[in-house]
Amino acid sequence: MNTKLPPLTPLVSPWMEELITDFDLQHQLFEKYGSPLNVHHIPSFEKNISAFEAILSNYGFKHKIFYARKANKCKILASAAVQNGIGVDTASFNELKQCLDNGILPSNLVSTAAIKTEPLLKLAIHNQVLLIIDNEDEANKILELSKELNQPAIIGFRISGFYVGNHKLMSRFGLDVDEIESFILDFFKKKGAQHFLNFTGFHFHLDGYSPKERGTALHQTMDLIMRLRSHNFDLKFIDIGGGVLMNYLENQNEWRTFQEELKMAVLNQREPITYNNNGLGFTQRNGVVEGQLSTYPFYNERTKEKFLPEVLSVPNENALTVAKRLEELDIELRLEPGRSLLDQVGVTMAKVVHRKKDARNNILVGLEMNMTQMASSSADFLLDPFISYADSEREDKPVEVYLTGAYCLERDVLLQRKIALPSLPSVGDVLLFVNTAGYMMHFFETEAHLFDLSQNVYTRKSQNEMKISDFMADE
Ligand SMILES: Cc1ncc(COP(=O)(O)O)c(C=O)c1O
Repeated sequence: MNTKLPPLTPLVSPWMEELITDFDLQHQLFEKYGSPLNVHHIPSFEKNISAFEAILSNYGFKHKIFYARKANKCKILASAAVQNGIGVDTASFNELKQCLDNGILPSNLVSTAAIKTEPLLKLAIHNQVLLIIDNEDEANKILELSKELNQPAIIGFRISGFYVGNHKLMSRFGLDVDEIESFILDFFKKKGAQHFLNFTGFHFHLDGYSPKERGTALHQTMDLIMRLRSHNFDLKFIDIGGGVLMNYLENQNEWRTFQEELKMAVLNQREPITYNNNGLGFTQRNGVVEGQLSTYPFYNERTKEKFLPEVLSVPNENALTVAKRLEELDIELRLEPGRSLLDQVGVTMAKVVHRKKDARNNILVGLEMNMTQMASSSADFLLDPFISYADSEREDKPVEVYLTGAYCLERDVLLQRKIALPSLPSVGDVLLFVNTAGYMMHFFETEAHLFDLSQNVYTRKSQNEMKISDFMADE
């Protein structure tokens, strides 16, 4: 039976390399900020913005990028976005308020909150921030508040339910593509609507990562814009939300091998490679593997450089590409990337508190962090962590461990995968998880058991001899 654990080697940038290998710096950071700690690297964020801009500036149509700050709560990233020439997509009252308080101009902001409370709507209308309307109640409320405040609201409508071939893309968000046109035409017959609602464009955000679906949705939205322009609506943009893939892993073979080994483990044809032999989406029935891996596609080659040109080259029935039509119709393409702007931006690190063996002889390494401090909707975070040992003179003796967290739940296992380490960590050694800035740090973080939330620090230093004084708290 195969007992070797399949590795999943992460892509690591030089600043991460430096942090991972500097035990003294890690120790000083913990002394000052506690464990676990989220570390952010602003130059990497800026590099991602430039890379997006470089791709889009190859085309003749206008574009505007909004960083989806829901992917990470740090203030500094919202400010850095604007300093680097892009806007910020906000998803709540607090996200919007904080941006406004930090001096971000309303023209660089959009509110796409799924639930829009009255204070949020008032704040947006008062500051002339673009509101993306999701439903009829919201539209009515905005009209009512605009009249009350005697101030027009800038709005766009979110669409969903696009057709790709015979298949309809279902969503709980937005207004259905089959009904939106008649809805808008009727809505603008309401008293005051023409005066108080400045309707400027459309928005959608699709689940999944299909360029064809996005391209097709763009064509259907451009068709709609053409029809509405004939009713004198001055529509200027289509915002296609986020969902641009990023790649976390170095090696496609490792990614494939991992999945093959996982399936074999699920069939009991090899030693388990996950806690309780969790199939991460794969199950077995009558000796056959069913289902699919229910994680993010951590290895993929369809990153922004490939993905965006693919979306933009989807043709319509007259063989006109998305890019060509956007240019001809003078429609600005807007994007709201979250995760892909945070590529290589963050590291989460935590201290080892204890080691133990469980009744199954698994070695468990308890960390000073909990499962919500590194969590996403993915069934597991499929990247090998890094370890930093206090004792640089130790004699290595490889071990395989599970990393466990502080919540009183059997399932507080930080990574479902069993992890191979060169030596058993000692108390006080450090585990580092790379590329956690997008969703992993904050999205599901809770304060159960009254644990403090993780602290967040950032550095603007490119790399090379980073010191504790190069790190600032995101307050
Ligand atoms: C409306 C909207 N915009 C942008 C995003 C960001 O998506 P991503 O982080 O995948 O780029 C999301 C994510 O859920 C979203 O719902």
